[in-house]
Amino acid sequence: MPGRILIVDDDPLVPRTLRILLTRHGHEVRTAASVADGLKQLDAAPADVVVSDINMPGQDGFELLRAVKASWPATQVVLVTGYGTIESAVRGMRDGAFDYVTKPVLDEEMVLVVERALESSRLRTENAELKAALDRSKGGRKVVGSDPTLLKVFDTIQAVAPTRATVLITGESGTGKSMIARLIHEASPRRTGPFVEMNCGALPEGLLESELFGHTKGAFTGASGARPGRFLAADKGTLFLDEIGASTAALQLKLLRVLQERRFEPVGSEDSVEVDVRLLLATNEDLGKAVAEGRFRQDLYYRISVVPVHLPPLRERVGDVPLLARHFLKRFAEENGKPVADIDDSTMTILQAHGWPGNIRELENVIERGVILCRGDVLLPGDLPPDLTKSAPAPSGDRTLPLKRALEIPEREIIERTLRSHNWNRQRTAQALDINRTTLFNKMRKYGLLGRAGRTVPA
Ligand SMILES: Nc1ncnc2c1ncn2[C@@H]1O[C@H](COP(=O)(O)OP(=O)(O)O)[C@@H](O)[C@H]1O
Ligand SMILES: [Mg+2]
Repeated sequence: MPGRILIVDDDPLVPRTLRILLTRHGHEVRTAASVADGLKQLDAAPADVVVSDINMPGQDGFELLRAVKASWPATQVVLVTGYGTIESAVRGMRDGAFDYVTKPVLDEEMVLVVERALESSRLRTENAELKAALDRSKGGRKVVGSDPTLLKVFDTIQAVAPTRATVLITGESGTGKSMIARLIHEASPRRTGPFVEMNCGALPEGLLESELFGHTKGAFTGASGARPGRFLAADKGTLFLDEIGASTAALQLKLLRVLQERRFEPVGSEDSVEVDVRLLLATNEDLGKAVAEGRFRQDLYYRISVVPVHLPPLRERVGDVPLLARHFLKRFAEENGKPVADIDDSTMTILQAHGWPGNIRELENVIERGVILCRGDVLLPGDLPPDLTKSAPAPSGDRTLPLKRALEIPEREIIERTLRSHNWNRQRTAQALDINRTTLFNKMRKYGLLGRAGRTVPA
């Protein structure tokens, strides 16, 4: 399929040859001699793939890469590097480049890499469209957040969703592991297939095995009929195994085998069954530690942790508290038919100071309760559970906040108040606070003050 390609190189020879080559393969090719020129062209019309030299006078290929990733996430970037500078190309890969080719650029190699990048860009675009559809169809069930760690998670999801790679999702209870698992499925080509969930901590050993792999008639006492099991139920789809740390040695061995051979034997059967399942796993345990303590197979651990996704606890992304709180407020106000439209500043301060041991699930419950109790249209401190109001806002007794976090509370308040009094004009707010606009912007992002309605990030 033809694609839109932009080639950026200060050496005119490279774009000229590549243009001829790629045009011959049916692609639409534009060229630019500098990063600034390239970005201007992208502003005018986006490209599916950008091929860029790394070393250029002025801004270099990395800067272009970052700018492209920020503004056109579906666009793939291929870096071109001279011999001997592979390290920098590898750095580019870590920053999100699709691939790199070394000079002198060979024709076939270039065409191959560009066409693979095109394919990947197309999958990403499809995913972006899917996410938009998802947002619309599921109303309030959006994944919300702007914390850098979460944005990284979205990048990873975007990259692995089209593949069948096993993903290990870690994080404390309530940080969104199950939600992310479903998102990966919905963003994958398997979304038309089943999404099957199983909690490995919920059943005793024997039952869990037959529940997962199925059993034959009479395989054990009480097995009156044959059952196919969840693996088969997830065929052509995704199987999400939660609390994988709770799995027994026997189950771990069986999982390893399915991962390696894509087949298994139902309990009581000698015939193996083939399945096409994408496995997603989650745990709130430190599996590395479980391996060290001999509770978890090392080979299985390596196998499943190729793509790790870690969800930090909410207390480590306090900037997302306002976003999430407003998001839940809107949802529960709608669900309960209540006119609650905003959260009082003092309420927000308390929410931000809380430690959230139950993470996002706890916040969700607190807001739901608050909306139900709320008598006006603004959520007040009195609508929060008493143990939350007790511990804040003035940190006292044994619940002392680290100084840095304690200072964030008044800082956020001052910034929000100043923004408000300057009608959310950032230029004037920055002047009033005597900080530069970048600092203001970064702080607004940190405290969830950008786009007060909350921002949704497509995965
Ligand atoms: N980023 C997020 N945006 C919106 N809601 C979230 C987000 N993360 C988690 N939630 C909500 O918080 C609750 C807990 O999430 P869940 O995925 O069940 O956590 P875990 O599986 O880690 O225990 C769910 O109701 C989920 O919808
Ligand atoms: Mg869960």
